[in-house]
Amino acid sequence: MPTLKYFGHSAFRIQDEKHTVFIDPFFTGNPICPIHSGDVNKCDYILVTHGHADHLGDAVELSLKFKATIVATWELANWCASKGAKVHAMSAGGAHDFPFGRVKMTIAFHGCGGDPRPDGSVPPPNTPVGYLITWGKSKVLYHSGDTALFSDMKLIGEKPKIDIAMLPIGDNFTMGVEDAAKAMEFLDAQACVPMHFNTFDVIKADPLAFSFRVEKQGRKCHAMKPGDKIEF
Ligand code: NI
Ligand code: MN
Repeated sequence: MPTLKYFGHSAFRIQDEKHTVFIDPFFTGNPICPIHSGDVNKCDYILVTHGHADHLGDAVELSLKFKATIVATWELANWCASKGAKVHAMSAGGAHDFPFGRVKMTIAFHGCGGDPRPDGSVPPPNTPVGYLITWGKSKVLYHSGDTALFSDMKLIGEKPKIDIAMLPIGDNFTMGVEDAAKAMEFLDAQACVPMHFNTFDVIKADPLAFSFRVEKQGRKCHAMKPGDKIEF
């Protein structure tokens, strides 16, 4: 059974017997992350939604250590490549078949800047995106990245049908609880995992208030704690 593990903020790992994929691996500097980047023992691909420090995270370091491929927008991928990372560049709207499944890069509405890295360099402006991942041939996961609510989520959820949607609920920089619940309606997803909340004071949110709204729609909500893992 493939598993989905949560590390706090927007950081996840999807894994089966063959493949290990991280999304927005923000370990270093993430106050609610239960592991250190050095604890990672396998990594094949890293999907990065945008160049903010809390999403690009340890991606370049992981790529260098495991020869893992960073999937990101053209601008961000090229910058990662300039740091020695192995990359696969995409743009919003495009899809590509990887060994673990199909990945479609989706639109997101959010800031596009890059935060200074520990070495002082700054990623170039880059479009924020999300990912629609068809794992293997059957299970569909959606990680929206940092985003506002947008009605095109209806299109994203149309085909293939989404099994699990990872959505931000922390408000201030992204959707809050109310908009994320509306996003679940637009996506018509079966289940969701709230993310991007309670990492910092400014994005405090109550996952139970979110799950209450989602369950009222007849959908499932996995309010995972950092370190939790579910099978899908
Ligand atoms: Ni951001
Ligand atoms: Mn963020």
